[in-house]
Amino acid sequence: MTNPTAVPEPGPRGAATTHAAAGPDTDVVGIAPDPAAAEGILADAPAEDIFGEDVHTKAKDLISRYPQSRSALLPMLHLVQSVQGYVSQEGIAFCGRQLGLSDAEVSAVATFYTMYKRRPCGEHLVSVCTNTLCAALGGDRIYRTLQEHLGEDGKPLGHEETVGEPGEPGSLTVEHAECLAACDLGPVLQVNYEYFDNQTPEKAVALVDALRAGKKPAPTRGAPLSDFKGAELQLAGFFPEDEATYRGDVDGPSAAVETLRGAALAQDRGWVAPAAQDVPLPTLPPKDGEKK
Ligand code: FES
Repeated sequence: MTNPTAVPEPGPRGAATTHAAAGPDTDVVGIAPDPAAAEGILADAPAEDIFGEDVHTKAKDLISRYPQSRSALLPMLHLVQSVQGYVSQEGIAFCGRQLGLSDAEVSAVATFYTMYKRRPCGEHLVSVCTNTLCAALGGDRIYRTLQEHLGEDGKPLGHEETVGEPGEPGSLTVEHAECLAACDLGPVLQVNYEYFDNQTPEKAVALVDALRAGKKPAPTRGAPLSDFKGAELQLAGFFPEDEATYRGDVDGPSAAVETLRGAALAQDRGWVAPAAQDVPLPTLPPKDGEKK
C-alpha cells in the first residue's frame, strides 16, 4: 500500500519545482520554472508582512466591483504584482484567501497569462515585439541588439531576465512579446506597456540607456512613463483620486497618423459606412434553472 503523505518523485521528463503533486507518470508543469525562481518564492516573507492594510483595503474594493468575488482574480493578480513586482507564491496565496480559491486555481490563471511575472521584475519592463510583421521590419534585430547590449560578461540577456537589481532604480527586465497591436507602427516596443513606435536598434539602445540612467523618455503615444509597479496598480484599476494628477497620469496622444490613414482617406473622399440594419435579437431558450 502506498503512503498517502509521501511526496512522489517527479515524472521522467525533468519536471521543474512545483507545489502540486507529481507522480512517476506525470510531467508536472512547474509553478516555479527554475531554481532561481523557487529560491525567490521560498525567501518570501509571511503574507501579512508583504501585503499591508492598504492592499487588503484595495482587495476588498476590487471584490466589491464584481457580483462574484472570483471575477476579481485578474485585477487582484495585478494588485499583488504592483507590490512585489511579480506574482510570488505568497501573492498567489493572498489572492486565494481573499477570493475563496485554491492556490492551484490561482496558479492556473497566473501561469497562463504572460502579463503575470513569476520572477521579480526590474523598475521597468521592456517588451520587444518579435511577432511576424515587426520581426520582418527589424523587431528580431532590435531584440537581439538589446539582449547583447544589456548582457554581461559576453552573455546576452535572456527572455524575462533583468539587468540590475529587480525593483531598484534603473533595473530593466527585457522580454520578447507577441503582437503588441500596433503593427502599422512596427517595429514597436513597449516600456511598462506604453508604446515606442517605429523603432530601430539604435533608438532602442538609446532608450534603454536612458532608462538605466534613471530617465523616463516620453512614449510616442499614450500616458507618460511611470514604472512597472505603478503601471500594475493602474492595471489593477487604481488611479490617483485628484483629477489633475489622474489626467497627467493617463492622458496623452493616443492615435497615430498611420492608424487613422484609412479614416482620413474616407473623409477626403466622402466615403461613409452603410447604415446598420436594425435586426431584432433572437429570443434564446432559458438556461437550466432559469425561470421562463
Ligand atoms: S506584429 Fe508587432 S505590433 Fe503587431
